[in-house]
Amino acid sequence: MTDRITIRRPDDWHVHLRDGDMLQAVVGYTARQFRRAIVMPNLKPPVTTADMARAYRARIMAALPEGSDFEPLITCYLTDTTNPDEIAQGFETGAFAAAKLYPANATTNSAFGVTDIQKLYPVLARMEKIGMPFLVHGEVTDHDVDVFDREAVFIERIFSRITADFPGLRTVFEHITTADAANFVASAGPNVAATITPQHLHISRNDMLVGGIRPHLYCLPIVKRETHRLALRKAATSGSAKFFLGTDTAPHAIETKETSCGCAGIFNAPYAIESYAAVFDEEGALDKLEAFASLNGPAFYRLPVNEDSITLVRGGETVPMSIAAAGTSLVPFHAGETLGWRLLAD
Ligand code: NCD
Ligand code: ZN
Repeated sequence: MTDRITIRRPDDWHVHLRDGDMLQAVVGYTARQFRRAIVMPNLKPPVTTADMARAYRARIMAALPEGSDFEPLITCYLTDTTNPDEIAQGFETGAFAAAKLYPANATTNSAFGVTDIQKLYPVLARMEKIGMPFLVHGEVTDHDVDVFDREAVFIERIFSRITADFPGLRTVFEHITTADAANFVASAGPNVAATITPQHLHISRNDMLVGGIRPHLYCLPIVKRETHRLALRKAATSGSAKFFLGTDTAPHAIETKETSCGCAGIFNAPYAIESYAAVFDEEGALDKLEAFASLNGPAFYRLPVNEDSITLVRGGETVPMSIAAAGTSLVPFHAGETLGWRLLAD
């Protein structure tokens, strides 16, 4: 049995770092493990211009712990009125690493999202031309579509059209939650990839809903039935270069989770790599962890792999029940559990 593994330092290709005091409180957890991260733009107001992206990047850099070499990669929040020239310029000057599609009102702070994919076509055409990554929250928001079906319906109605109309567009299907999405990505062209979160590999909707409702396991896209969780585990540990690490860590103050209408989002940053390691270990695929966590993402984003490494050892810590942050507290993913792996300090 392997008791120790060393892999190239991983990157997190999907994080919510927030802003202000919350940014200050959470960024260190991500920077402790990951060298780079694709930072989501769903702030209030959302990051829609290159100037906003540069200013947000500077705030993240200022919030980092002393000596950290963490590098935030900022994404542009697409709207119905995004201008192709402006986003191309933002990409070419390095202000934006990618652009993100939030269907309007699909999730936290997405009110300014895209109402009709057709409105985005000039932007997508330009992104395809310049090789700018297109990141997708793949859920429809139609009231008549059940929340558990929204990802599968998005593939059918929207995603299949986008990949047909823009075959060269470098696309990431973010935080996939279904076998349908895993199959769609596996059978699409080499320019279509996906991120997978720790929670969608660990829990099914039963974990969230049986024996009492657990608001800290509620995120979007919502966790699905067990068959989907198993399909995602298979995809993540398959060794395919199309699947890579993206935690979707999304902190919300405890009082906004434990309430009659709780926010969506799981704060998994504190023990993210340990959480993934547990899954790969359970699947007998620890030899595939490095590709998923540290190699496939940089290859997709056309960035160099990290030169330094991290070491994980068997025998983990007990995850605290809550973590103080920004005058309130956050309940981390796996709260109260003892993880099978521990990240050694540098
Ligand atoms: C995210 C958030 O809180 O910003 N929430 C979530 O449940 N994942 C938004 C998102 O990525 O959908
Ligand atoms: Zn997200």
